[in-house]
Amino acid sequence: MLRAVVHAFGDPRKVIGLEEAERTAPGPGAVEIRIRRAAINPSDLIPVTGAYRSRTALPFVPGFEGVGEITRVGAGVTGLAPGQRVLPIGASGLWQEYLVRPAEWCFAVPDGLSDDQAAMAYVNPLTAFRLIDALEAHFGTTGSRRIGVTAAASAIGRMLLPLLTEAGFRPVALVRSAATAARLGATFGGEIVVQSTPPLDGVLDAVGGAAGDALFRQIRPGGAFIQYGALSGAQLDPALVAARRDEVAFSFLWLRNWVHSAPRAAIEAAFARSFAGIRAGHLASSVGGVFALRDLPSALARQDDPARGGKLLIAP
Ligand SMILES: NC(=O)c1ccc[n+]([C@@H]2O[C@H](COP(=O)([O-])OP(=O)(O)OC[C@H]3O[C@@H](n4cnc5c(N)ncnc54)[C@H](OP(=O)(O)O)[C@@H]3O)[C@@H](O)[C@H]2O)c1
Repeated sequence: MLRAVVHAFGDPRKVIGLEEAERTAPGPGAVEIRIRRAAINPSDLIPVTGAYRSRTALPFVPGFEGVGEITRVGAGVTGLAPGQRVLPIGASGLWQEYLVRPAEWCFAVPDGLSDDQAAMAYVNPLTAFRLIDALEAHFGTTGSRRIGVTAAASAIGRMLLPLLTEAGFRPVALVRSAATAARLGATFGGEIVVQSTPPLDGVLDAVGGAAGDALFRQIRPGGAFIQYGALSGAQLDPALVAARRDEVAFSFLWLRNWVHSAPRAAIEAAFARSFAGIRAGHLASSVGGVFALRDLPSALARQDDPARGGKLLIAP
């Protein structure tokens, strides 16, 4: 079978290779899955650069999100059978044709959901739910607070905007260009702000760096700033965060921390909510292209193209 593999940390376009590998039979409690679609997310590429080298062992197969079909089940597995579609979560490894994963880390996909949408049902929707929960925990559910969403036209930004409204907040979409504002405006009727720092009660930030610092300075006392990404490649200035420690609650949120501590029933409930939101439309993501695994270099080259217009998917 074909797989993508990283033997050394570095620029993803240079260090992610393709190689043939043997399929392995699933051991007790595990299943083998033929991957039908896998997503390319920013969070797949960060470990490749070596940013988390303390917890990333080489070599490894990238890819945290996707959907596959069970092909073989190991001894003692109940409730999963060949042919069934699942989302295998909890570790990377989806950018390959076949994956062996403990059955307990596989979640059933309902019929009627396309492979493309199922492949994007995990990372962004479940993170968006956690972010809204964190805001509700900070502010309570009363009052209509203004919450800025940076990189608001990203796949997760487009989910956060309606979820914030549903939760009683007033979302403010923050984007870096007029072109992005125009694209987002086609589907989002609320406030869109280009490269400026409006008054806000809270920020959900995927950008960090100088833009994050500027927003952090402006947050009203009693507010909250939750950082869940660093698309700029930089963190917020720690001195700034420390200086406002008593008036702005700063925190990081990583889905991985929740997934590895939450009870399985809570993860199942989050998936049920994700699938329902995808069907309803507000949690569906647009697809910018589907690439054969053999064409992974083309997909990675396209990932930074501002005109890609949606998630890139791999069809191993
Ligand atoms: N913490 C977690 O557990 C977690 C989970 C899910 C996602 N995330 C993070 O969420 C972020 C978005 O993920 P996604 O899957 O939604 O990404 P995506 O759909 O690929 O969208 C990323 C978009 O962000 C915008 N962008 C890129 N760099 C930017 C910058 N420096 N400043 C402002 N905007 C920028 C670009 O839009 P324009 O070109 O149109 O401006 C780009 O298309 C990533 O940082 C990811 O790591 C974190």
